[in-house]
Formats: sequence, C-alpha cells, structure tokens
Amino acid sequence: MNNGKILIIEDEKSMNDVLSMLLEDEGYNVSQALDGKEGIDIIRKDIFDIIITDIKMPYADGFTILKTVLELSPETIVIMITAFGTTEDAIDAMKMGAYDYIQKPFKIDEIRIIVRNALEKRLLSRQVKTLRTQVEQTYRLEKLIGKSLKMREILMTIPKIAESSSNVLITGESGCGKELVAHAIHNLSKRVEKEFIAVNCAAFPEGLLESELFGYMRGAFTGAILNKEGLFEAAEAGSIFLDEIGDMPLNLQAKLLRVLEDGSFRRIGGLKDIKVDVRVISATNKNLLDEIEYGNFRQDLYYRLNVIHVHLPPLRERKEDIPLLIENFTGQYNAVGRRFTKDAVDVFINYPWHGNVRELKNAIERIFTFTDKQLITIDELPMEIKGYEANKTKQCQKGDIEISSDGVNLDLIMEDMEKKYLLKALELSKGVKMDAARLLHISFRQFRHRLKKYGIN
Ligand SMILES: Nc1ncnc2c1ncn2[C@@H]1O[C@H](COP(=O)(O)OP(=O)(O)OP(=O)(O)O)[C@@H](O)[C@H]1O
Ligand SMILES: [Mg+2]
Repeated sequence: MNNGKILIIEDEKSMNDVLSMLLEDEGYNVSQALDGKEGIDIIRKDIFDIIITDIKMPYADGFTILKTVLELSPETIVIMITAFGTTEDAIDAMKMGAYDYIQKPFKIDEIRIIVRNALEKRLLSRQVKTLRTQVEQTYRLEKLIGKSLKMREILMTIPKIAESSSNVLITGESGCGKELVAHAIHNLSKRVEKEFIAVNCAAFPEGLLESELFGYMRGAFTGAILNKEGLFEAAEAGSIFLDEIGDMPLNLQAKLLRVLEDGSFRRIGGLKDIKVDVRVISATNKNLLDEIEYGNFRQDLYYRLNVIHVHLPPLRERKEDIPLLIENFTGQYNAVGRRFTKDAVDVFINYPWHGNVRELKNAIERIFTFTDKQLITIDELPMEIKGYEANKTKQCQKGDIEISSDGVNLDLIMEDMEKKYLLKALELSKGVKMDAARLLHISFRQFRHRLKKYGIN
C-alpha cells in the first residue's frame, strides 16, 4: 500500500526536503510546495491521498489549505504541521476536519506511523464505500447483529479488516460486543485455521501476565522448573486478543511494543530472540488518549495497536438495534413463539442500558427464567427497567426550577431530593432494600449508607 500520493506544503525549504526524503524512502509518491499559494494551485490540479501542510505560511496559511481541500477533495486526508508549543492551532484544525498533526521538531517514527495509519484509513473508507453500494442491508455477521446505521457500517467493515493483517483496536463501553467483534475478525481472516487466543490483561498480576504472554526459561525465577512457551508463541500464525489493554502495566507495554515493531521477543530468562507472526487485536473500555495524558499508557504503543480502529457505540446511541436484539435473544432462550408486546419493547428502547448488550441479554434471560407467559408485557420486565420508565416522567425539566435573587442552597435542595427518592424507592419496592437500590441504580451498600445518613428506617 506504499504507493500513496502525498503533497507537502511547508515554506521552510530544509524542513520540506527532510520530510519529502523521509516519505520517499518509505515508497510514497511525494510532491512539494513551498508556500500556501503554490500549494493551492497544485491542489486544484491533482488529487492526493494525503496533504501535509504547515500552519503558519505566507500568502495562504494551513487553515486556508484545509478549507480548500475540504471543499475540493473531501476524501483527502490533511495532516497539519505545527511549531513546538502551538498545538492549539492544530487542535482547532482537527476540529475543522484535519486528521492529525505533527510537531516540529519532527520525530521520524511518529511521522511514519501517522502517515501509514492515515493511508490505511483512506483505503478502508474507500473500500467501505464501494461495499456499501454492493450490500444494502446486512443485519448479521457471525454472532454480531445490528441494523442501526452505525452497526451496519461496522458489520460491513469487518470483512475488510479481516482481510488485512493490520493490528486492530476495538473501543467501547463494557458489554458493547468488543469481544464478539474480535472473534469475527479472526474467523473471517485467513488465520481462522490457527489459534485465537484471548488474554484479559486486567486479570493477572503483573509478573504473571508477562510469563503468560511471553513464557519463561527454566530457572528464570523461583518456581520456573521447566521451560514454558508463552501465549504469543502459541498464537503463531493466528490472532491474539489483548482484552482490557488499558490495564497493561507500563513495563510490559515496552515489551509488547517490541513484538509489534519487529515481531520478536524473549522469554523471561531467555537469551534467544523468538520471531512470531501474530495479529494483535486489542480492546479497552478506557479512553487510551486520556491514559496517555495521565502517563499510564505509552503513546508509541497506542499508534501501533490502533492502526485500524473500531469503535462500538453504546446501545443507547443505536436504539434501532434493540428490537432486533430482543428477538434474537428470545430465540436463544428456547423461547420460540414467545414475544414482547409493543409497550414492553418501547420500555426497552427507552431504557439507557449502561451495561449495554450484555445487560439486555441478561434482562431477557431473567424474564424467561421467571415467567412462563407467552406474551411478555411491561409487568414481566425486571423492576429496575420498568422503574426507570416510571421515574423518568417525574424528573424535573429546566423550566420547572427557579432561583430567587438571593440564591438557593443547592446542597439542601439536593439532600431533600435525595431523601424523597430514597423513600419513594422503598415504597415502590415494598421495603425490600435490595430492590430499592436497583431502582436508583446504586449498590445495596450505597443505599444503606444513604438511609443511615438521613436516619431513615
Ligand atoms: N451486536 C451484538 N449482537 C449479538 N450479541 C451481542 C452483540 N453485542 C454484544 N453481544 C452479546 O453481549 C454480551 C457482551 O458482549 P462482549 O463480551 O463482546 O462485550 P465487551 O464489549 O467485550 O464487554 P467488556 O468490556 O465488559 O468485556 C455477549 O454475550 C455478546 O454475545
Ligand atoms: Mg470483553
């Protein structure tokens, strides 16, 4: 894919030359412009995959370039160059539609990765576009279902992603289907005959995770009585799924980075480099960009993992999927012929599903465990779900409140409100605290704690 066409617009000639040489070495077809006006002339005549433009330039600045590209060739990816300490401009540009920015002085590796990722993204969006015209409605792929626009887009992209061998990062709230997506990518790829190994990075203490992933040699630490192969070796020619990657300890991140960079690693206590060919699919419900800010996650690793990004939106942002999911899970629980009334489906549609598809699946399982009825009405729905609907109508609107000229005591108001909700929930649940807590979406302990705080018995 190295045949990307790139235009560099940068008035500092030496910078322009360095960049252009670097990218030509990578095999790209590079053109240069030495100021904004020349850049715009070239953009009018030719189409580029990527345009890298300085922000501050005579005649026409980076923003003008960006605007021109968005107008003439919106598919072209624009990357801004910014001087050290002026990232705000670059961020404004990203809000307008630039893809990313690079900072002077240049870090060569960073540029290579940004450009490579940008090209992957461009290729993928081109393919998805042709696919979209071919396949109008795909509601199912492997075990994944969804008919919302967002889900259909994801379902259409997955076969393409499976074809490529790039690393994939899957993000999204808990219970959104990240693991299902990872499975689908593996199953549709040519690696399907080989292993798919899932590792939950949050489930192991640090040392153990390292020996699980990379293996160890006899005598490397107390208890290492035999040589042991790690999961990376076991996944040879297959895929490894690093779940909860945001929880991987920093020193292991460095070791993982090396595997991603040159496909090799050493067992703990080992002296020999081991080469592997493993596709890395990772997932997290954390925001890795925030984790990078906090110093918990390596930026270079992030770029390596995130060559292709799949973001699964929360269920509440794709409510069109809910009826389809209800139908699907009803079928799974041996409940053929049984169905939900329209009112009951509507309650499901309006519920916020903070636990996403997993919560919905569990709710349906619970319903069929507790009732034999053929037709599921609102009455049969779990307490917290129908309770949510009942409470929602009572929540106050912005127009309902008033603040007098000498102000209000917000703490007192909130305490009063909290007391009312606690009492109401107790009433609705006939004094069963566990149920009342569920109605308020708080834990039993928290509920008890609050009752105590207000002296409610
Ligand atoms: N689009 C979907 N179609 C069918 N089933 C789904 C879909 N999305 C999720 N599920 C089901 O919901 C449950 C949760 O999905 P999954 O384990 O993939 O979520 P996750 O994003 O990995 O969650 P976590 O972050 O908690 O690990 C699973 O039982 C899965 O089968
Ligand atoms: Mg998961």
